[in-house]
Amino acid sequence: MADSEANPPAPVRLWGGRFESGPADALARLSVSVQFDWRLAQYDLLASAAHARVLHKAGLLADTELARMLGALEELGRACRDGRFRPSASDEDVHTALERGLLEQVGALGGKLRAGRSRNDQVATDLRLYLRDHARLITARLVELEQALLGQAERHLSTPAAGLTHLQHAQPVLLAHHLLAHVQAFSRDSGRLRDWDKRAAVSPLGAGALAGSSLAIDPEAVAAELGFESAAENSMDAVSDRDFAAEFCFAAALLGVHLSRLGEEVVLWSSHEFGWAEIDDAYATGSSIMPQKKNPDVAELARGKAGRLIGDLTALLTTLKGLPLTYNRDLQEDKEPVFDAVDTLLVVLPAMAGLVGSLRFHAERMAATAAAGHALATELAELLVRRGTPFREAHEVVGHLVVWCQVHDCELADVGDADLAKVSPLLTPDVREVLTIEGALAARASRGGTAPVRVGEQLGRARLAVEEQAAWAAG
Ligand code: ARG
Repeated sequence: MADSEANPPAPVRLWGGRFESGPADALARLSVSVQFDWRLAQYDLLASAAHARVLHKAGLLADTELARMLGALEELGRACRDGRFRPSASDEDVHTALERGLLEQVGALGGKLRAGRSRNDQVATDLRLYLRDHARLITARLVELEQALLGQAERHLSTPAAGLTHLQHAQPVLLAHHLLAHVQAFSRDSGRLRDWDKRAAVSPLGAGALAGSSLAIDPEAVAAELGFESAAENSMDAVSDRDFAAEFCFAAALLGVHLSRLGEEVVLWSSHEFGWAEIDDAYATGSSIMPQKKNPDVAELARGKAGRLIGDLTALLTTLKGLPLTYNRDLQEDKEPVFDAVDTLLVVLPAMAGLVGSLRFHAERMAATAAAGHALATELAELLVRRGTPFREAHEVVGHLVVWCQVHDCELADVGDADLAKVSPLLTPDVREVLTIEGALAARASRGGTAPVRVGEQLGRARLAVEEQAAWAAG
């Protein structure tokens, strides 16, 4: 029997020297994070390669040592990717597991990589690298949703819809205008991730445990190699700051909230009561008991997942609250919320893009109800204003006309000349000219308004903005 089988090798521990006993099982079970931080492995290896190069530049690794080290890190990266190297039950975290992997390949040389860095600056670096990558992935998926909305807007550039406030008919709008309102919100979400990325582009490596290093390593060189804009200005801040994670979670949570608002609208639109849109079979679910059912689960899950995303942000902020500088082990709790936020968005966004892209709007039905509920009343009031009537009085007059219509169960445009005059002498027969949906839409031509000409321009600008977002995500 080989020696190693009789006596399994002692687990790799990064801090065993001053301890007489090994950790209690209960401590080890509480402490272990490799089950979730393993997803940082590739980023940790990248940072390790960059660190090896600065150790070499500082004269702390010979040429041959550097070459062996980089070769081993690359091989370890491959082994991680194809599953040949996995964390073991005794690896405390991703850093411990990868050090074991390195030691298995290059023996004592592997131990040289620890010089001048600590898990404190390492883990902060890994998480920034991970999030900067994933901010781009999320943006790419968000762009697909925006493109789905843009496609629908393009198709419905002349479809009138009821514009709602308080969920009550207010004024007619173009369906495209409504859809583009969601694009505006999503564009800001995308912009938020991009702005966030500028602040996140600071490398903590070189901060060591908290105070920097006495070795001649060059943090700016590491930063540049890892695609950061600069190295951290303050080593204590570098290892204790998790603003970047919290801010990322906020951007994710707000995006989640925007997704939930769109989700809620799809739920409403696809209901029998609204009857505005039909969900494609591929994005609807059925009922196990009611054969006729077609349910908007994607939209509901988008709405529901917003709760998780808000929870992720809340959990992280609560962890950070009151922590003294610098690194505290509480900070290990920073990862699961951000991973959850990333995972959640990466499943919700493609489903929402598919749902929105394949929605079939019932354009005729929407047009037929676009002015329901006397939604053209404002047109009439504004016409009277253009003719010199104070708005207060115009509002009053048209209000009376609405009541007249309610009592007589008719539309504003159906009131005869004599009855108009009875309500008010201001209501001459020609006021009926403004009582068409097309007229009402065309009249709202102020910047940001729902007039077809403005919405067409808006669509063009939104397309350009979304293309820019796509380019950033791919860069
Ligand atoms: N797993 C730890 C974390 O995620 C790594 C840093 C540990 N540092 C320490 N001094 N115990 O935060």
